[in-house]
Amino acid sequence: MKRKFIVFLLATVFALTWSVAAEASPTKRFDKTTQSCRILTFYNSGWVSAGAKKFRQSCKVCHFRGNDKGAKFLYAESKTMKGWDRVFFRKYPQCAKDGSWDKINQEDLLAINDYLYRNANNTYDPNDAEDCG
Ligand code: HEC
Repeated sequence: MKRKFIVFLLATVFALTWSVAAEASPTKRFDKTTQSCRILTFYNSGWVSAGAKKFRQSCKVCHFRGNDKGAKFLYAESKTMKGWDRVFFRKYPQCAKDGSWDKINQEDLLAINDYLYRNANNTYDPNDAEDCG
């Protein structure tokens, strides 16, 4: 009996953790840099959006898998929504500080941030109306 209870307890804990782990895909993002609200209603989750294209052109040129620039492989799910917002608000990465971002204008940075935030880690939840079907 005791063992069954423990198994039941573990299953419940697992189920609860699983259900909070995934958040529904976001439809809005507050941008701290520009103090504005960004609407994230992309077609097809933004894979073909301007932000996705800019990310490939401005970031993936270094951050691709197996690059020789010393840059980590990065894709949308490398960070959470908060994580990506921190990258663009604080601009803490080495590349942002050493001038590699200088040629990217503010509008493009916003678009890249939007795209990455929309597709960040844990943003897909098939049990939510935003993502199902
Ligand atoms: C000229 C090459 C280059 C470009 C262009 C570049 N990066 Fe980087 N980036 C680097 C290098 C080198 C590092 C330091 C090593 C590392 O941590 O990956 C770095 C570090 C980072 C980190 C820290 C790694 C981590 O896991 O937190 C992030 C985030 C990042 N870059 C994001 C970006 C984004 C977003 C863009 C486009 C707006 C971009 N980078 C453009 C070379 C580049």
